[in-house]
Amino acid sequence: MSLLDTLNQLRESAKQSLLEAKDSATLEKLKNQYLGRKGELKDIMGRIKEVANEEKGLFGKTMNDVKNELTDILEEQVKIIGACKSSKTSVQPDPTLSGQMRDMGTIHPLTQVREKICSIFERMGFSIVDGPEMEDDFHNFEALNIPADHPARDDAETFSLEAGGLLRSQTSSVQIRTMEKTRPPLRILSPGRVYRPDTVDATHHYAFHQLEGLAVDTDITFADLKSCLHLFAQEMFGIETKIRLRPSFFPFTEPSCEVDVTCIFCHGVGCRVCKQTGMIEVLGCGMVDPNVFKAVGYDPEKYTGFAFGIGIERVTMLTTGVDDIRRFQECDLRFLRQFV
Ligand code: DAH
Repeated sequence: MSLLDTLNQLRESAKQSLLEAKDSATLEKLKNQYLGRKGELKDIMGRIKEVANEEKGLFGKTMNDVKNELTDILEEQVKIIGACKSSKTSVQPDPTLSGQMRDMGTIHPLTQVREKICSIFERMGFSIVDGPEMEDDFHNFEALNIPADHPARDDAETFSLEAGGLLRSQTSSVQIRTMEKTRPPLRILSPGRVYRPDTVDATHHYAFHQLEGLAVDTDITFADLKSCLHLFAQEMFGIETKIRLRPSFFPFTEPSCEVDVTCIFCHGVGCRVCKQTGMIEVLGCGMVDPNVFKAVGYDPEKYTGFAFGIGIERVTMLTTGVDDIRRFQECDLRFLRQFV
């Protein structure tokens, strides 16, 4: 066999091996074997003196062609194997890996308590109404029988808005807005955020939540108020819960009361939370003052009604045992995840 034949044979076998190579290590090996400094091509080249003079031209040209062809195939194969390798890691899924967990949200504890309170009163025929957080003097104070010289109207007690008006300091303002546009009988409940410029500490915040209740009809009595609140306390804190009404004062109700419930921690025995009294204060209430009816155009001779105001943070702190009101605003997932 002539050296030219040997060269052509090498070309065929080298091409086949290069095209069959499956990984870069094999390619590297083949490169050395055929094209390397001590490779088979160099070996054949070293035997050029065996070629007859008149065939040297053809031999030299073939030698160059083989070298170029093999180099091209090698480069192409390097690219293909490299691409396969990277596509393997990024696209092909590994079915043995565990799945990715999605973060599940939970309902905020204040929302849970608000929903529970609302559902209790809804079952007693109350409907939920909403009102604006930006209010005016009339709805937040005047119509609620809070006179201009009342301490609650002091500038330091409310957030005033530059454009006029204020941020409501109580949801009682929604009583007024509802009565202005509705005729009795009515039973409404209005949950929402209220604002007071209080210094923030474990029991105070400048933004917190209340729930205002109002019932108006021709023959509503104090007994209705009492039984309604007793039912609420039993549903909210447990069937054994008793309530106690203590005389108090609110400008928009007369008579007015503060309502205590049996301490949910010691069940009335006396403990640190209830300061050994066995009872805990949860809300304010009373019979709607005739002046409030007059402010909205209701006839106080014809209609009577009761109202009450519940602090949502307060009830939540009691039912969950959270002892710092700031926790509810901090958006700390470690805290919030506890309330599934
Ligand atoms: N608005 C009162 C407050 O912010 C709560 C309240 C007390 C509302 C008695 C009432 C009520 O409707 O009758 O402290």
